[in-house]
Amino acid sequence: MRIVLFTGKGGVGKTTTAAATALRLADGGVKTLLLSTDTAHSLGDALAMPLTGEPADVAPGLQAVQVDTQVRFERVWRDVQAYLTDLLARGGVDPITADELTVLPGVDEVLALLAVRELALQGAWDALVVDCAPTAETLRLLALPEALTWYLQKVFPAQRRIARGMRPIAAVMGRGDAIPPDSLFEALLRLNDELAGVRRLLGDPAVTSVRLVLTPEAVVAAESRRTFTALALYGYRVDLVVANRVFPAGGDPWRAGWAAAQARQLEAVRDSFAGLPVRELAYRAVEPVGVDALRDVADCLYPAGADPAGGDRAAAGSAALPLQVEALGSGDYLLRLALPLAVRGEVDAARAGDDLVVTVAGNRRVLTLPGTLRRCAVVGGEFDGRELQVRFRPGPAPWPAGSVG
Ligand SMILES: Nc1ncnc2c1ncn2[C@@H]1O[C@H](COP(=O)(O)OP(=O)(O)OP(=O)(O)O)[C@@H](O)[C@H]1O
Ligand SMILES: [Mg+2]
Repeated sequence: MRIVLFTGKGGVGKTTTAAATALRLADGGVKTLLLSTDTAHSLGDALAMPLTGEPADVAPGLQAVQVDTQVRFERVWRDVQAYLTDLLARGGVDPITADELTVLPGVDEVLALLAVRELALQGAWDALVVDCAPTAETLRLLALPEALTWYLQKVFPAQRRIARGMRPIAAVMGRGDAIPPDSLFEALLRLNDELAGVRRLLGDPAVTSVRLVLTPEAVVAAESRRTFTALALYGYRVDLVVANRVFPAGGDPWRAGWAAAQARQLEAVRDSFAGLPVRELAYRAVEPVGVDALRDVADCLYPAGADPAGGDRAAAGSAALPLQVEALGSGDYLLRLALPLAVRGEVDAARAGDDLVVTVAGNRRVLTLPGTLRRCAVVGGEFDGRELQVRFRPGPAPWPAGSVG
């Protein structure tokens, strides 16, 4: 079982490359399901066929589905929402508004990820190709299961105990509505279990990999670097970078100017994602819509010999977590970057603003630092033959205590 997630900034070509990849897998005999967690129904547009919540045949060995988050939303979230709606209604908010207010932004996409797991567990497909929402959302959501688990394990049991103890007292005082009912806790625990399952599945490098789609422009490349850092930190394996909409060289000065600018960006992209294959897709004269056009895209993405499932790369040992940050007891942070192929004496690292520039045998890799580390100073570093370890120390507090008020 393989799961391949496609992410990137808005409009860069996630849907197109996801659909092309799914087709290539199916054409190679891998039973594949292509699904979109995007609430805009663009997957159907790319395939030039209407999609529903039921898997539909697209090509031999390929089915596609548009995850209907609204239905799932109703099912999973019903208890939680019922409580919140009730509470707001009692507070004088009219029921329709209360209903709207309890729809949390981003929950749709979390539920779509739950659907990915459910479909994977059905066991009907050998590969799931997922067209994800744009970068920022997907990332936040991918990190959510862990944050929620922490909350539910550390904070929730205490709150639940308190709520149980308080309920009879509140009832006597006529304020029973102020205490969350037990069914709410049950619903959240159930949701948490399912999310933990999603996290296990998507965080398992033997099962899931993420492909970053970008266009060779400075702003897009910078966002992709941040995404890569964050994905690595959360433990998601990135196995491919797709540079889309590359202008063919030549032509009039306007086009030549763009081609030259893109060539510079592509070089920077190769530096930033050293060790990962970067595949280029030319800017086409027409939108690649429909199965035939998407097969053409797949031919460029996966040249002869390239495994669309990324199996060739997993075998090469790229499954190890590339980047980890550890909080040390002393208050310092230790950034650990796996450099399995590097040789001692050929590794160098330097801080440049928000980036860490790592040089291995003359190859530069620019790594955007996670937010916490950007506010720290580098106080030491070493390479032990396997991984680079850089020590960061928090700088002086930006808001000195007692200066407010
Ligand atoms: N290489 C290309 N050449 C020409 N057109 C392309 C290319 N790649 C994608 N397109 C077109 O660009 C548009 C956006 O592509 P796509 O829908 O795949 O991007 P996306 O990242 O999924 O966007 P969104 O963030 O809105 O979901 C589509 O109309 C698609 O057909
Ligand atoms: Mg899309």
